[in-house]
Amino acid sequence: MTLLALETSCDETSAAVVRDGQVLSNVVSSQIKLHAEYGGVVPELAAREHLKNLLPVAQAALAEVKISPAQLDAVAATQGPGLGIALLIGFKAAQAVAFALEKPFIGINHHEAHLYSPWIGGCDAPVADFGNFQPNISLIVSGGHTMLVLVASELKHRVLGGTIDDAAGECFDKTGKLMGLPYPAGPIIDRLAEQGNPAAFDFPRPLLHDTNDDFSFSGLKTSVRYFIRDHPELLGDRQKVADLCASVQAAIVEVLVKKTIRAAKRAGVRCVTASGGVTCNSGLRKALATACGKNGFTLRLADKSLCTDNAAMIGILAERKLRMNQPLTALDEEIKPGWQLA
Ligand code: KG4
Ligand code: ZN
Repeated sequence: MTLLALETSCDETSAAVVRDGQVLSNVVSSQIKLHAEYGGVVPELAAREHLKNLLPVAQAALAEVKISPAQLDAVAATQGPGLGIALLIGFKAAQAVAFALEKPFIGINHHEAHLYSPWIGGCDAPVADFGNFQPNISLIVSGGHTMLVLVASELKHRVLGGTIDDAAGECFDKTGKLMGLPYPAGPIIDRLAEQGNPAAFDFPRPLLHDTNDDFSFSGLKTSVRYFIRDHPELLGDRQKVADLCASVQAAIVEVLVKKTIRAAKRAGVRCVTASGGVTCNSGLRKALATACGKNGFTLRLADKSLCTDNAAMIGILAERKLRMNQPLTALDEEIKPGWQLA
C-alpha cells in the first residue's frame, strides 16, 4: 500500500510517501526563519507559507521516489490538533487529491502520530519497527505540548497528564528570549548548556513532587525572569550565560524525566518513548537514557529528524489504521483544531 501524507498543523510544511511500514520519502520545509522575527509562530503567516510550499513539497516527496499520484493507494493528512488556518491547507489539499484520485482518505490526530515516530527508524533506515512494539509510557514534548500518554497497545491509549500552562519547549524559548537569545531558543540553550554548570543556579522544579502526571513551566519562566532582572550583569558574561542555560535545562529535564519514569513505574510498562521537538535536547536524551537504564526500561527515542513535526509519522499511522480496517474520513469532514487525544 502506497500512501501520500501531508502535515501542516503548525510551522512545518511536510509531505511523505509511505509504503508497507517504510518511509520512502519525507520532505520537511520549516518556517522557523520566517517566524523568528516575531518571536513565535504567526498563524496567518504560517498558513500563507503552507499555501506557497505545499505543492512543491508534495511534488518533491513524490519525485524523490519516482511515484506518480496515480500510483497512490490512499491519502492522509493531519486533521488536528493545531492552528486552524494552517491545518486547513494540508487537510483540504489532501481531501482534494483523494477525491480526484478516488482513493481512501484518512485524517490523523497529530499527537497520536507522535506516538509512532519513536518506532520509525532514523533517516538511514526509515522502517517502522512494530515487531518490537511494547506497551509504553510516551512523552510528547514540543513547543506547543507536554504530555504523558499510556499506550496500552496500538490505537489504545490514554492521556495521563499534560501541561497546565506553558509547554516545555515554550519554556526553553521564553527563558532564552529573556537571555537575549533568538527564537527558537531551545536548540541554542541546548548547545550553550554543554559548556555550563547545571548546578550553578537553582531554579524551581514545578509539580515535581505532585503525584499527578501534569506539568507546569510558567513558574520556572517567571523565576528566570526575576533572576535576570536582579542579576542583569550575568548576561554580559559568556560563562554565566552558559551556566544559566545549563541550570534552566537541568530544571526542565529533571521534571520531564522524573515524572515520565514515575508514570512508567505506576503503569507497570517496561518501555518508555519520547518524541516532539524538545526530544532533540541532548540533556533530555541523556537523562532519559540514564534513568531508563537504571530502572530497567527499554527507551525508544524518536530519531532527531523525526522529533519535530513531519508527515512520515502521519503516513505511518494512517497506513497502520488502514491495515487495521479503521474507519476512513469523509471527504467533507472538517479540521479539528482542538482535537485532543482521548
Ligand atoms: O515539535 P516542534 O517542532 O513544534 C511544535 O512545537 O509543534 O517543537 C519545537 C520546539 C521549540 O520550542 C524548540 O525550541 C524546541 O522544540 N526544541 C528544543 C530543541 N530543539 C527543538 N528544545 C530544547 N533543546 C533542543 N535541542
Ligand atoms: Zn508536533
